[in-house]
Amino acid sequence: MGPSFSAATEDILAHPLFQDTRRLKHHGADNSVYDHSVATARTAYHMACALGLSDADVISITRAALLHDFFGYDWHDESYRRSLRRYRGIRRLTHMHAFMHGLTAARRASRYFALSDRQCDAIAAHMFPLSPVLPRTREAWILTAADKVVASREMSQCVYLTMRRLFRRALAG
Ligand SMILES: [Fe+2]
Ligand SMILES: [Fe+2]
Repeated sequence: MGPSFSAATEDILAHPLFQDTRRLKHHGADNSVYDHSVATARTAYHMACALGLSDADVISITRAALLHDFFGYDWHDESYRRSLRRYRGIRRLTHMHAFMHGLTAARRASRYFALSDRQCDAIAAHMFPLSPVLPRTREAWILTAADKVVASREMSQCVYLTMRRLFRRALAG
């Protein structure tokens, strides 16, 4: 019997800034950063338990996974796009959300929650192979795998829901 998911995460889930991630859209109109982060944390938790890691490591990975997208802005909106325009050429590409948000999330999460260096590194590297930082620890590999499993599922769901809406509209028209 390992540590409980809710005991490992309840303080983060109750934090007002984490609650604020409910309003940030992520993988499609029906998915928020909150939904995605909780699903990723649950997946990372189950992976860590299945691998037989210590309670301390399970808690550490689960909390890092919950905060892995704690970047705090809407990457779909106009003000984010405007902020990118100050970069030119290749620098604009390397500052795009997909490349940079792991580092942003690690810095921001460590301002509000007590995180170890290993947790911060795992968050910063979770977008591997796009991240400028490579996963170097077990935490980082589990987090990047959990994120990809959940993101793939959410994006497939997003495509399915979009196709269904278009199909229904076409049938009604
Ligand atoms: Fe991410
Ligand atoms: Fe993510």
